[in-house]
Amino acid sequence: MLLLVLVIDLFEFKAVRLHPGLDSVSFLPQGMPAINTREFVIDDYDQAVALWNVVEGVEVAEGDSKEEIRAYLLRNPGLSRVAEEDGAIVGAVLCGHDGRRGLIYHLAVAPAHHGKGIGKQLVQECVTQLHDTGITRALILVASDNPRGRSFWLRNGWEEVPGALLMGIDL
Ligand SMILES: CC(C)(COP(=O)(O)OP(=O)(O)OC[C@H]1O[C@@H](n2cnc3c(N)ncnc32)[C@H](O)[C@@H]1OP(=O)(O)O)[C@@H](O)C(=O)NCCC(=O)NCCS
Repeated sequence: MLLLVLVIDLFEFKAVRLHPGLDSVSFLPQGMPAINTREFVIDDYDQAVALWNVVEGVEVAEGDSKEEIRAYLLRNPGLSRVAEEDGAIVGAVLCGHDGRRGLIYHLAVAPAHHGKGIGKQLVQECVTQLHDTGITRALILVASDNPRGRSFWLRNGWEEVPGALLMGIDL
């Protein structure tokens, strides 16, 4: 059996709710057209993949086929989110949990929309919904070669967990 053990830097973070109870689905960045956030549905897949492919710091990999994402969304109803402007996806994030820990993947905002609060909003909605589901801790993985992503999470209240390693195996 081929055994692959992948060891990369792991940054485990603790969720910090910035605005408890927030359940917003739309907001207005300063002086900008309305950005609406809503549930990620499978029809958003193509636009989300295009977004993930255009940003640095998100790798579309195994588990990201359309059928696999469809199954993921069904398993974690309503938790993944998108942001859209005039019907175009400008932000996306996958969110789920295993009954014990929340997990957030593939947070991305279109480069032209960086700095408008979209990433923060999407994460907040994930965190709020996880909490409402009874989950009290959430984790993310940040690639060690993504210092900007790392600083975003730190800026937004998440904490690194020193001494942790991520390990994996192909099944
Ligand atoms: C990381 C990313 C999602 C941030 O999205 P964004 O919409 O530009 O971020 P926001 O405008 O919501 O920023 C929210 C806060 O984080 C801060 N922030 C944003 N990017 C930051 C960065 N790289 N480093 C430090 N702080 C950052 C903002 O200044 C803002 O702070 P404030 O609330 O005190 O004003 C976006 O830059 C992106 O798509 N990056 C590429 C993909 C990626 O790396 N994803 C993370 C994978 S782990």
